[in-house]
Amino acid sequence: MLKVRDIHTYIAESHILQGVSLEIPKGKLVALLGRNGVGKTTLISSIIGFRSIRTGSILLEGTEIGAFPAHRIVRLGIGLVPQGRRVFSSLSVKENLDVPYRCPPRGGNDFTTERAFQIFPNLMARKDHRGGHLSGGEQQMLATGRGLVSRPKLLLMDEPSEGLAPLLVRKLAENIGGFKEQGLTILLVEQKLSLALEVADYVYIMSKGKIVYSGKPEDLAGNEEVKRRHLGI
Ligand SMILES: Nc1ncnc2c1ncn2[C@@H]1O[C@H](COP(=O)(O)OP(=O)(O)OP(=O)(O)O)[C@@H](O)[C@H]1O
Ligand SMILES: [Mg+2]
Repeated sequence: MLKVRDIHTYIAESHILQGVSLEIPKGKLVALLGRNGVGKTTLISSIIGFRSIRTGSILLEGTEIGAFPAHRIVRLGIGLVPQGRRVFSSLSVKENLDVPYRCPPRGGNDFTTERAFQIFPNLMARKDHRGGHLSGGEQQMLATGRGLVSRPKLLLMDEPSEGLAPLLVRKLAENIGGFKEQGLTILLVEQKLSLALEVADYVYIMSKGKIVYSGKPEDLAGNEEVKRRHLGI
């Protein structure tokens, strides 16, 4: 689905991504782990076109999207659940879900506002409440719903469990499992190792702008050296 090849991204003069490559196969969930400030969000921003890459290549189903603006990338089928939720605080829940661009239904993905309400009944109950008045967990549901209504083939989720109580992390894991079953391809940036290991088909670890480990979740689970060195666990 997505092939990232040797990309270099700068923020001002800082060389943040220093030759990152990764692959996300269709229908799979790939988790990206790493400590604070290693470049995970910069990678997400580079994929969706919020930040331009200086060199390297990003292929979405064979199409080079590395130089495309974000709106074009969303139309081609990449959705985002941004770090920190970023819900529109003065808009209602329903308006938040109605705002995003919607691609025509494709490949069984006919995600609508009504569908978001089915998956997240809490949002239905609060559909006329302002985004800013929701709890952290509800804002996460809203951010996830908003990422899905553009009907992506590939969903980028940037630390969705950040700041959620354990019970809500559990629910998030179930929801993510459900999206996977429906055939969605997902890149999940996570700091909670247990969540990543539970839902991922494949795992990458980033450190200082480079990929330093890749492997199957069960291999990482048993690799104390890598966990200690790169995740501080
Ligand atoms: N707008 C910015 N201006 C300057 N430097 C930035 C900016 N955004 C990020 N950086 C720097 O780029 C590096 C990578 O940041 P990034 O947000 O990609 O990390 P991250 O892995 O997502 O971290 P976290 O887990 O805290 O979200 C950091 O050193 C950060 O200080
Ligand atoms: Mg980040």
